Amino acid sequence: MLILGIETSCDETSVALVADGRHVLSSVVASQIDLHRKYGGVVPELASRAHLEWLVPVLDEALGQAGVALSEIDAVAVTDTPGLIGSLLIGVTAAKMLAWQLDRPLVGVNHIHAHAYAVCLETDLQPWPSVALVVSGGHTTMFDYRSPLDLRRIGRTVDDAAGEAFDKVAAILELPYPGGPSIDRLSRQGNRRAIHFKRTRMGDKGLDFSFSGIKTGVLYQVRGQDMARTADTLTEEQKADLAASFQEAVVDMLTSAVLRATEELGVASVVLGGGVAANSRLREKMQSLCAKRGLQCHISPLKYCTDNAAMVAGLACHLLRDGQAAGLDLDARA
Ligand code: KG4
Ligand code: ZN
Repeated sequence: MLILGIETSCDETSVALVADGRHVLSSVVASQIDLHRKYGGVVPELASRAHLEWLVPVLDEALGQAGVALSEIDAVAVTDTPGLIGSLLIGVTAAKMLAWQLDRPLVGVNHIHAHAYAVCLETDLQPWPSVALVVSGGHTTMFDYRSPLDLRRIGRTVDDAAGEAFDKVAAILELPYPGGPSIDRLSRQGNRRAIHFKRTRMGDKGLDFSFSGIKTGVLYQVRGQDMARTADTLTEEQKADLAASFQEAVVDMLTSAVLRATEELGVASVVLGGGVAANSRLREKMQSLCAKRGLQCHISPLKYCTDNAAMVAGLACHLLRDGQAAGLDLDARA
């Protein structure tokens, strides 16, 4: 089954062709990073206009790379939730038009579930049952992951998403946009034990997250209690120490909650996906902690951590086989 996937939920315009839910024939991602850089964050109106402009060229590129004609596609899949409403609408409208014109089934895909599924692309892996952690710019959610279509939420952030905290802390440290990769890079030169940030544990089972306290902690470290200083008074070494200490605290909070969840559910496998799963320290620490406990650790390949349509087309295959095609009244939900 050959599925064309479309992803436009935030600031990447992406189209992919995936066979049988696993085999990626092409995955084209047009990133809008340059467009949003001068604003220091994604501007929703600009994002949706760029999706409108780029979607057809990206579609052509994906078909060309896969060597596939539109008539050979068996179904059209699209991220319909969650995300920026204007951005989602561009993808959903394009997918409906294609499905109608080609007379093929349409499948609406949940973006967060697709991030968890990304570990299955280009492998035969069956990572269920497991604890899945999806950490991205918009979401930090932990699931009791029983099958591609059976995800039960067991934890989530009560305030900022992990990626959002990375991006905001990078802005406080006046590091280049996008913030997550900047902090990851700078942390390699810093001492992760230089400053101790409190690790917060939320919810009665310690499976929820909170990152706003640590973000404020970094702010006070940089600006002083009276907020009189600016980041340019810090030396490069101080900035690297702050970045590394912040990153270590976030990684500790994420990994320890995942380990608690594996004990709670009695499962022996961990799945990690979403943009923050690209973080080198998170990948390294999750792997080593799982190895020590004899747990299987499955982390999305780097190219499928950040937003992409391959994970959408992949998961859609399972939805379709389960009879979960959408009608042409499919709507985007923010
Ligand atoms: O999954 P994604 O592309 O978009 C959303 O669904 O939100 O994730 C983007 C987020 C951004 O906050 C970005 O700063 C973060 O992922 N990110 C990272 C790294 N690479 C991307 N955070 C930490 N370390 C990284 N290496
Ligand atoms: Zn995402």
